[in-house]
Amino acid sequence: MNILPTLNTGRLVLRQFEVTDAEVVHRLAGSKDVAAGTFLPHPMDRQAAHDWITERLKNQAAGMGVTFAISLAKSGEVIGSIGLEIVAEHEQGRLSYWLGSAYWNQGYGTEAVTALVDYGFLSLKLHRIYAPHFHTNPASGRVLQKVGMTHEGRLREHYLRFGRRIDVELYGMLRDEFFKGGSR
Ligand SMILES: CC(C)(COP(=O)(O)OP(=O)(O)OC[C@H]1O[C@@H](n2cnc3c(N)ncnc32)[C@H](O)[C@@H]1OP(=O)(O)O)[C@@H](O)C(=O)NCCC(=O)NCCS
Repeated sequence: MNILPTLNTGRLVLRQFEVTDAEVVHRLAGSKDVAAGTFLPHPMDRQAAHDWITERLKNQAAGMGVTFAISLAKSGEVIGSIGLEIVAEHEQGRLSYWLGSAYWNQGYGTEAVTALVDYGFLSLKLHRIYAPHFHTNPASGRVLQKVGMTHEGRLREHYLRFGRRIDVELYGMLRDEFFKGGSR
């Protein structure tokens, strides 16, 4: 899994990260607004952004996951990231994603998650794709609803983030649900 395919959606190109993307990752993911819904390192300076990319590439080479840079098809500008952490033994993938805050609420999150769900079931042949999101982050839950995932439950006070205990909402989709969904 060293070299990822490039995934083209209507407005986005999803491609493999390069270490030269560290500057833009630092600029976008370094924001506390973005970090608050995730476990991205915070604060994230350029070196931390470089290390974050390197770690993703290492996991990819080990078959433990895939991470795509989300870029705008028109300009090539990187606007975020999306990935699947894979447990091959269980044929499952855990979704995670973030966009720079200037790009929120324009449908890009839904477009990228749709592409990754397609990739996970069609190319990686996964059995299950799931995504936990912080209860305090309803936009992420809305994206998962829009792509047709099922709400599977709430994990109470599951995480500690920035000193606060956070309930986690769990969404998932099984392989047969993906194919029965009929949209692909
Ligand atoms: C979560 C995230 C990727 C969503 O991306 P996005 O491009 O804004 O998503 P979309 O535009 O496709 O959809 C957002 C939906 O959430 C809704 N929404 C936004 N803010 C909301 C809020 N506070 N309460 C409820 N719904 C909200 C929008 O109205 C939209 O739904 P609609 O199309 O039915 O109107 C983006 O907000 C983000 O990167 N956040 C920071 C990182 C993060 O939290 N990642 C997720 C970790 S699980």
